[in-house]
Amino acid sequence: MKHGAHFLVVRRKVSARCCLEPPAACLRTNQVHYPDTVKNSGAFPAGGLAVVVGSSGGIGRALLGRLAAQPRFRAVLGLGRSSSPLLDLTDETSIAEAARHVQGLGTDLRLVIDATGVLHGDGLAPEKSWRDLDAAHMATAFAVNTIGPALLMKHFLPLLPRQGRSVFATLSARVGSIGDNRLGGWYSYRASKAALNQLVRTAAIELGRSKPAALCVALHPGTVATSLSAPFVKSGLDIQTTEQAADRLLDTIDRLRPDSSGGFFDWRGQPVPW
Ligand SMILES: NC(=O)c1ccc[n+]([C@@H]2O[C@H](COP(=O)([O-])OP(=O)(O)OC[C@H]3O[C@@H](n4cnc5c(N)ncnc54)[C@H](OP(=O)(O)O)[C@@H]3O)[C@@H](O)[C@H]2O)c1
Repeated sequence: MKHGAHFLVVRRKVSARCCLEPPAACLRTNQVHYPDTVKNSGAFPAGGLAVVVGSSGGIGRALLGRLAAQPRFRAVLGLGRSSSPLLDLTDETSIAEAARHVQGLGTDLRLVIDATGVLHGDGLAPEKSWRDLDAAHMATAFAVNTIGPALLMKHFLPLLPRQGRSVFATLSARVGSIGDNRLGGWYSYRASKAALNQLVRTAAIELGRSKPAALCVALHPGTVATSLSAPFVKSGLDIQTTEQAADRLLDTIDRLRPDSSGGFFDWRGQPVPW
């Protein structure tokens, strides 16, 4: 079994409503359930396909490796800008073609994890003040962190099976929480992730109408040692390795309940305020 960034592992045998309640009540209904006796229970029907978008990234690569090492999915596929088929979030045609490729594999799509994102690079840097706001940099943040994942929803949510559990999870960030914003700064990243969270909620409502067993959620991975976080992590913070983060995210996904769809959860499975 190969553990590279982009690959397909195939195993021969496998082993809405709009919430009008106050936020606190919404969060309660979206809490992840932790049954005492269930751990990594293989909550997905056997024989399915898992896809990681952004499998060249720190967290994405670890997720792909962990999923490939588990027997519960028949196939595990990594997609990104250097995979074949190529998937670039800024090119909808490539997303549509990747989705067609996934459909053509003929295996039930049970799990999609979007592990893409951008915080810095090519002149983009988290803003300390409104003086730093730059239209082009903001557009880049929204293109990758918001619009790209929305297009993933457009092309991949229709592929989730009508029957049985399936999950579309996108990696958001706690700093996208409006309720949790006490420090300010990071305007573009915060706003692009807050908008992503709204897209997750909205898509979950639509998804629930046709596929009640399918879930669409936003996840906060915690602070993880990757190139995205490297310039900003301070010593003393609880920094996870990518493998730890992958295990905890997969554990959280396993423990999502049907009424968790449309929610925003951290790597401990705890709801994050909107
Ligand atoms: N690391 C943390 O501490 C932390 C904390 C909170 C939230 N998060 C979130 O977790 C997610 C993953 O972060 P990470 O730390 O693993 O970051 P990373 O190592 O920088 O990985 C980012 C991934 O996004 C992909 N990507 C960027 N632009 C793309 C595009 N236009 N089309 C397709 N793919 C694109 C990258 O692909 P290329 O290899 O082609 O560039 C890479 O696979 C992000 O959403 C991030 O906001 C991370």
